[in-house]
Amino acid sequence: MSGSTEEGQKPRWWQDAVIYQVYPRSFADGDGDGVGDLAGLLTRLPYIASLGVDGIWMTPFQPSPQVDQGYDVSDYCGVDPLFGTMAQFDELLAAAHALGLRIFLDVVPNHCSSEHLLFQAAVAAGPGSPERAMFHFAKGRDADTPPNNWQSVFGGRAWSRVNPGSDTDQEWYLHLFSPEQPDWNWRNPAVGDYFEDVLRFWFDKGVDGLRIDVAHALFKADGLPDAANADSVVDGLRSNLHVSDQEEVHEVYRRWRRVADSYSPERVLVGEVNLDPDRAARYTRHDEMHQAFAFAFVKLGWNAAAWAAVGTELEAARREHGAAPTWALENHDIVRSVTRFGGGERGAMRARAGLLAVLGLPGGAYIYQGQELNLPEVDVPLDARVDPMWHRGGVSRDGARIPLPWTVDSGDTFGFSSPGAPAPWLPTPEAWGSRSVEAHLNDSGSTLHLVTTALELRKQLREKEILAADDGGTWRVENGGLLICERGDQFLLAVAMGDDACHLPDGNVVLASSPLTPEGLLPPDAAAWVLRN
Ligand code: BGC
Repeated sequence: MSGSTEEGQKPRWWQDAVIYQVYPRSFADGDGDGVGDLAGLLTRLPYIASLGVDGIWMTPFQPSPQVDQGYDVSDYCGVDPLFGTMAQFDELLAAAHALGLRIFLDVVPNHCSSEHLLFQAAVAAGPGSPERAMFHFAKGRDADTPPNNWQSVFGGRAWSRVNPGSDTDQEWYLHLFSPEQPDWNWRNPAVGDYFEDVLRFWFDKGVDGLRIDVAHALFKADGLPDAANADSVVDGLRSNLHVSDQEEVHEVYRRWRRVADSYSPERVLVGEVNLDPDRAARYTRHDEMHQAFAFAFVKLGWNAAAWAAVGTELEAARREHGAAPTWALENHDIVRSVTRFGGGERGAMRARAGLLAVLGLPGGAYIYQGQELNLPEVDVPLDARVDPMWHRGGVSRDGARIPLPWTVDSGDTFGFSSPGAPAPWLPTPEAWGSRSVEAHLNDSGSTLHLVTTALELRKQLREKEILAADDGGTWRVENGGLLICERGDQFLLAVAMGDDACHLPDGNVVLASSPLTPEGLLPPDAAAWVLRN
């Protein structure tokens, strides 16, 4: 095996790092305008450090018209005034480092904003120009028919006319997401050079790593052929093989890895690679990204056999390519796990158990803000929804993006904004205070306490060399739907995913998401960490 840990090299910090995802506009509002920002995040850094995580991934705060809440970037090397200033970012980075927290930023290389200067220049320069060659511009089949049948991930067609009605400019441009997010043309080497400068800009500042947005989509099949399945709407990326997982994309990540490795300490790349595990693993070969998110458990129900099968598949990929999985049960695009796992008390128990499970698995893990509070998905009133995916495709991701509740008492915004600030950008439910950070801190049995205890124990087990950063795992299912993943010969993770309480393998339960039964069994919908004798 070669892989991310080269033969004879010590395991690296990032291999089992736990990273806390901050969605800045919903984390904490420092300037009292109803939208979270860098000033708010700065004041709450000690809270994140107190969880015991290794770092923070911040979703985009760069200048953007905010059509897709920042994933439509108009300047990759700036800070949107909505979130603050570059001086505040520098202060934040220094403060995070002083607290021992690494900072990962989001880089969005598949598309930019239609207000990006290079796209504006392309529109102005007209057909056949080098400016247009930075993007995918092409003549339609006729004035009303785009160059091919590709569908946008957000719904509707993936092409828009540049100048509708113009006789001289009959070109269309490609946007896999909304029309305000034109796709870069990665077959043009100038695009690769541009993004290398972007990487270096943030790495030179001391940013520790980058999360790469829709990392598998940059290259489109040569000649932009029709998709076989033209009917797919919101699943455009997965059902259109021509816009995803093209072989040429790997050269981009080899180049980015060389850039990341040229820094000291090394910078880290983690990809949003939404592919089946065997294909996703190819992005973490030893000279490409360090990690790619393992989203498999997001798509599977609460089913031990299905989890064990995927775990085994990811373990095989780790053995072949070296990179252990980077688990994520939630992020800003995904329905909160409490709700996905059935909602109510049962969904809440399963979400706690799921979180304790991924923190006990080999590899890295991401915690999405509010997951430590076991927040459920919120059913946002129709007229308050802002997600472009809702407006174009009828699917809303707003319910996972509600401003975080910090205090029990409302004070209008449960501590998200200062008193007297305007209503937050998405409405908070009335009972939000009972789910707040303050409420969790006051309850020794809360999910927040479970997370801090788990992360503390995880560190101790690493120090005692019971766990290693580059561990693998052996998966199985025991009677009654008990999922087991064994790491080495001293530690195992168990999750009771069936309807009955389960006997645990011999050993000491050092942490559990729910109390054991009086008979010492693991109750349904609970997870346990067990140390073998
Ligand atoms: C981001 C989404 C965004 C999309 C387009 C995703 O994977 O996580 O929030 O809408 O990329 O940039």
